[in-house]
Amino acid sequence: MDRAALWLILLGVFLISATCDPVKKYLLVSYQKKKVDIYSFYINSTVTSRYVTTVITSRVANTLNESQEIQFEVKIPKNAFISKFRMVIEGKTYDGVVKGKEEAQQQYNQAVSRGQSAGLVKSVGRTLEDFKTSVTVAALSKVTFELTYEELLKRRLGKYELLINAQPMQPVADFKMDVHIQEKPGISFLEVKGDLSTGDLANAIKTTRADKDAWVTFYPTQDQQTKCKSCGENGLNGDLLITYDVERRSPKGEVVLSNGYFVHYFAPSDVPRIPKNVVFIIDRSGSMHGRKMDQTRVALLRILTDLDEDDHFGLITFDSEVSLWKRKLCKATETNLENAKSFVKEIRDRGATDINAAVLAGVDMISRHPREGTASILILLTDGDPTSGETNIEKIMANVKEAIGTKFPLYCLGFGYDVNFDFLTKMSLENGGVARRIYEDSDADLQLQGFYDEVAVPLLTDIQLKYPGGTKLTKTSFSLYFNGSEIVVSGQITDNSVESFTTEVIAVSKGSNVTYQDTIMTKDPSDVPPEDEDFMQRLWAYLTVKQLLERQVLLTGQEKEDEKKEALKLSLKYQFVTPLTSMVVTKPQEEEIEVAEKPEEVGMEQTDHDDILMSMPITDMSSSYYDSYMDVPDTYVSQTETMFTTMFTTTLYTTTSPAVQEVNRFLLDVVGQSKPLCFDIPVPHKLRLLQDSASEFSMNGESLSEQNGFHQIAFHYKTNHHLMINTKSISYRNGQDNVEFLWGQEPTQYNADSVSLVVREHVMNVTFGNISVVILSHKKDGVMFLWPAIWEYSKDAKLTGVLGKADISYKETQGSQTPILKIKDKEVKTSLETVSDYRLHSTPVRECWLVPFQALMEAEISDFTVTQL
Ligand SMILES: *[C@@H]1O[C@H](CO)[C@@H](O)[C@H](O)[C@H]1NC(C)=O
Ligand SMILES: *[C@@H]1O[C@H](CO)[C@@H](O)[C@H](O)[C@H]1NC(C)=O
Ligand SMILES: *[C@@H]1O[C@H](CO)[C@@H](O)[C@H](O)[C@H]1NC(C)=O
Ligand SMILES: *[C@@H]1O[C@H](CO)[C@@H](O)[C@H](O)[C@H]1NC(C)=O
Ligand SMILES: *[C@@H]1O[C@H](CO)[C@@H](O)[C@H](O)[C@H]1NC(C)=O
Ligand SMILES: *[C@@H]1O[C@H](CO)[C@@H](O)[C@H](O)[C@H]1NC(C)=O
Repeated sequence: MDRAALWLILLGVFLISATCDPVKKYLLVSYQKKKVDIYSFYINSTVTSRYVTTVITSRVANTLNESQEIQFEVKIPKNAFISKFRMVIEGKTYDGVVKGKEEAQQQYNQAVSRGQSAGLVKSVGRTLEDFKTSVTVAALSKVTFELTYEELLKRRLGKYELLINAQPMQPVADFKMDVHIQEKPGISFLEVKGDLSTGDLANAIKTTRADKDAWVTFYPTQDQQTKCKSCGENGLNGDLLITYDVERRSPKGEVVLSNGYFVHYFAPSDVPRIPKNVVFIIDRSGSMHGRKMDQTRVALLRILTDLDEDDHFGLITFDSEVSLWKRKLCKATETNLENAKSFVKEIRDRGATDINAAVLAGVDMISRHPREGTASILILLTDGDPTSGETNIEKIMANVKEAIGTKFPLYCLGFGYDVNFDFLTKMSLENGGVARRIYEDSDADLQLQGFYDEVAVPLLTDIQLKYPGGTKLTKTSFSLYFNGSEIVVSGQITDNSVESFTTEVIAVSKGSNVTYQDTIMTKDPSDVPPEDEDFMQRLWAYLTVKQLLERQVLLTGQEKEDEKKEALKLSLKYQFVTPLTSMVVTKPQEEEIEVAEKPEEVGMEQTDHDDILMSMPITDMSSSYYDSYMDVPDTYVSQTETMFTTMFTTTLYTTTSPAVQEVNRFLLDVVGQSKPLCFDIPVPHKLRLLQDSASEFSMNGESLSEQNGFHQIAFHYKTNHHLMINTKSISYRNGQDNVEFLWGQEPTQYNADSVSLVVREHVMNVTFGNISVVILSHKKDGVMFLWPAIWEYSKDAKLTGVLGKADISYKETQGSQTPILKIKDKEVKTSLETVSDYRLHSTPVRECWLVPFQALMEAEISDFTVTQL
């Protein structure tokens, strides 16, 4: 180990002990574990006709002889709406109240301006959302938390999936999970899976089946709670996934009536499949490079294998140019499929993204070969914005809409987070399809194939559902119905005193028109009333709100406002936490307020684009439970060589420079020299601070003109890791997890494959692969700013960027009046300056030799600027 390395380590120790006290913080964590006793944790899910109401109740005791903060954190499915949250402390009940977003925000802002910390209750994973709150509980007192959420299960590939996450954070003496499923037509199969059903825990699961009911109970002992694959010292940590389907005796579907509301589930399966014409439009632009392109090829090869012989298909790849495998649709014969597979294997990424030309080519291909009695489907897969040809999104949408002319649906699959998902959503909704997000992950090929599987077997087209005795209906017309999915319509019954209720479905089957008519007696004596009589009304409200929210992207002006108002009205009436509402939770301490909101996904206007209800009866594929959550223990051990390179600081040229100009002053330590070099870069700017092309790592920083340092620093690693740090919060996403930290919070860690994030009070330690960087948050004159310092990187890494310069040496030349340094055999004029060393929390002042940036870097500043963080 060389001297610089040793110095760095010593400095590291100093840095940490100077900025926060890790020993104390970590003590706090383990001591909390002992002094907070979660003595009971119940999860109670009731499913009535696919509508799930889940209540999580956690009873916690503060066993400490002083008051302390007690946390409640649970994960709920993204598709669900929270509808109730309650805390009971010392016999007093504190209920969350759902309010319009603006009203809630006002209340929240007032609370903040009064200095009461108003925490937030959100964070998003791939299939789950995080609900987190805390409350101060008096010495030796108890608190009960109760959270209720509701959702309608969607049928996908022939089954419903009910996902329940359990992670109470410690083994619990009295842990119970009760699931009761009530399905009027009977349950055809039921399976319990998920990581909580593995190992010793499997013995804690009991399934009881009756004709129309199923009960799943999961009562693990405290000991068992530490003994599953994903469980540990902190007890249960994982999911239970209950999959089931219902009996379908009548192709006319199932109608459930209750208290003046009805729901109609329509999912015939004994209908011949309709041959399909499917055109795949595949983005092969440069951004698809690497794993995305590989996974797309793998998925396409499998999809081709699955085509039926009477299907016709086309393949289009595009970047700035559009390539057709064949000019017209081809029958899925063995020879054609073999040729197509060879074509797929040769798809290579290159160039820009001309979505407009590619989609129009696809439309043209289908339109030119109309075939009677078939179902046509256009599938666009892209990972980016249109960057070539027509790039105006409005124009592309207008072109596509005109070309398709409601003849067939367009499905858009957005790969990763760099896509303009709003654009894809709108374009697909306008053309009778849906947009799906394909998460960048190891299972992306399975996600692609899963989507295809859902649309693989069209059974009906142009489906219209009619309910003469119904009103306030949810969506009643659908362009396609696929085997394994389900069409759901709910509404109110106009006259509740009538004795019968009629449903009618008109659709086009393989080459012929079909009608399904059904009449149901409203008073069926064999009916067992559901546990919750109101569930049907809530189901109707849930579906209506979801659909109104989905339609928002398509609407403009008054109509949009009206529908928004209606969705808000229903959300408030049924106390759903939707994108339009927030739940205000008032805590006992000085009326402290927290606001629970439906989290938005990055780059999305609303949360539920995956919902199928707009036009298509296919279900949400992202609800398959491949969600691995945070806190995966990290086994990656860094094999890095510790080295030290640069540090930097900001200064104001108020006295020395005639033209007053603000700069960021960067410091460059030089091995063997006592004085570091420094150089200035004028602000504001967005700089590439550090880049390692080999490991696809980059760190960029943005500075503002009125501020020291950086107000934002972004990291990108591989294609899917993005870390954004600003002066308030830190958010990290990797296509699967979406994690938020706050500066000043308790020490928190996130670890996953070759990624480690450690947030302490003023310091964050970021490790991506072999590169570790420390980010400090400072406060000067009341203004927060950020400072990066490179901590470690592999000796072999070839770092570039403003902080990437490592191999610098200089000599002081004696004798001249102006000090001159010799850097790489060049003489450079310099002056001795002082700067604050912001790498340390104590910010000591140091002397440095100031040299021109160009002389040091042998490049222009513009070579280091970026347009986007
Ligand atoms: C679960 O909820 C149902 C409906 O609210 C209720 O009837 C039942 O008693 C609850 N079960 C448990 C174990 O709390
Ligand atoms: C709790 O603290 C109070 C005051 O600090 C003290 O009088 C009392 O003895 C303590 N009780 C226990 C059980 O430690
Ligand atoms: C539709 O799915 C059902 C059950 O999954 C199956 O029995 C039936 O054969 C399928 N229909 C077609 C046309 O593939
Ligand atoms: C189906 O019905 C529509 C009108 O309802 C009619 O135009 C069409 O010809 C019918 N198709 C067949 C195959 O009967
Ligand atoms: C930052 O993380 C790296 C890798 O996990 C570790 O070696 C280093 O000691 C950490 N530094 C600090 C300051 O915590
Ligand atoms: C770390 O660096 C070594 C040497 O350059 C390399 O072999 C290894 O793959 C790197 N590990 C990661 C996780 O990037």
